Amino acid sequence: MNDNLHQLRCFGCGARISGAEAQPDFRCAVCGDLFEVEYPGWSQRQGHDRPNPGALKWLWRERRCSAETLDHSGVWRFRELLPILESFGNAVTLQEGNTPLYPLTRAAKALGIDQLYAKHQGMNPTGSFKDTGMTAAMSVAKERGFEWVACASTGNTSAAMAAYAARAGLRSLVLIPEGKIAWGKLSQAMDYGSVTCQLKADFDGCLTLLTQIVKEAPIYLLNSVNPYRLEGQKTPAFEIAEAFDWNVPDHLIVPGGNLGNSSALGKGFRELKELGLVARMPRISVVQAAGANPLVRSMAENHGASLEPVEAHTRATAIRIGNPASWRKAARIIQDTGGWCLDVTETEIAIAKAELGAEGLGCEPASAVTLAGLKKLRAEGSVASGESVVLVLTGHTLKDADYTIDFHRGTLLSDEEKAGHEKEIDSLRRNAQVVEATPAAVLAALKGSA
Ligand code: F0G
Repeated sequence: MNDNLHQLRCFGCGARISGAEAQPDFRCAVCGDLFEVEYPGWSQRQGHDRPNPGALKWLWRERRCSAETLDHSGVWRFRELLPILESFGNAVTLQEGNTPLYPLTRAAKALGIDQLYAKHQGMNPTGSFKDTGMTAAMSVAKERGFEWVACASTGNTSAAMAAYAARAGLRSLVLIPEGKIAWGKLSQAMDYGSVTCQLKADFDGCLTLLTQIVKEAPIYLLNSVNPYRLEGQKTPAFEIAEAFDWNVPDHLIVPGGNLGNSSALGKGFRELKELGLVARMPRISVVQAAGANPLVRSMAENHGASLEPVEAHTRATAIRIGNPASWRKAARIIQDTGGWCLDVTETEIAIAKAELGAEGLGCEPASAVTLAGLKKLRAEGSVASGESVVLVLTGHTLKDADYTIDFHRGTLLSDEEKAGHEKEIDSLRRNAQVVEATPAAVLAALKGSA
């Protein structure tokens, strides 16, 4: 590892250690908090020695046309800002990142906003934003000579970890809550050859157990408590800034589960600002499901000073997390950027997901909380019409096809949940009809849906 270039700084007490000194659970030996990767060289360099923003921007754009595999990764394309490897030859990549930033024209019109975009992280190789973090942390695992890697997961982390481990030639162990993740995600972990254990525990229980296991066996922990994951997950911030011609949107809206992603994106924008690549940061807001909203409660009750875990319930299984590991980091980024932390109901999530789908942008329910949250922020005047907004869609629609089919069949929400929203829901629902195999029957079906 290139410890000359990076070190780990405890988010709680500020203790600094080298990468090699980290404990297997990535908790600080002094205070128990999590670490962040920092690059002391950046602040120590003066004048000519500092990275030249213009040259970096040019280099990163040029790499998109390069013949090198590493340059085709939307993470390693920015490798000057994540010098975490001794040799970039150890990078394990599936050419992740470089995801599209789609204009959301219909939602923008409906909300009276001029500029609304979706950064679709579901368009990554395994269908979620986890790939950007996994390429970084898996590369570290490989470089350090680990044979086994592991994660606890609500599904997407395990899918990404399994794929990257397979590419690296490492073995992987997945702990997931039994019956509480979407089948498509479990199938990915199996397809890529993970040892997959379904436990009679929730996500939080799986992570606690894994933390004990990695202290007893030489297994590299790949949950987002691993600070190298966040180094990869910060790079969509660079892509967004690049797409805005090295400006930033006024608002970035991110779903909140274990709260690693909001922290990572915040770190990305913060570093761009510190290095003089952008002039300011977006307001970063985090949206949770109402049934899994420990950070929302913490921010409302004590401004993020402490967090009381909750028993989590939501059909957006990816964010069914009651005791998020990175809550302190997320609270700090919301406060530092002047963003908001809010929650949305199951009905609001389902409607927002269907609205995104109707614009041709499928996503999984956990991603749709961003649009549902934006609607609330707009209604209360926290987002102005002239402001630019980017929603981070974290997972692909095919990750949880059952949810979508249940919505369109009308079986997803209870009558109580539908109450007051029937018209809206009916206008979005598309029933898969059974019709006779004749032109007349199909044309009649067309008329019926007009
Ligand atoms: N959206 C999706 C699709 C997710 O899979 C997750 C987290 C989140 C949002 C929340 O991100 O945890 O960084 O706040 N999924 C994890 C997993 C926990 O195991 O796949 P976060």
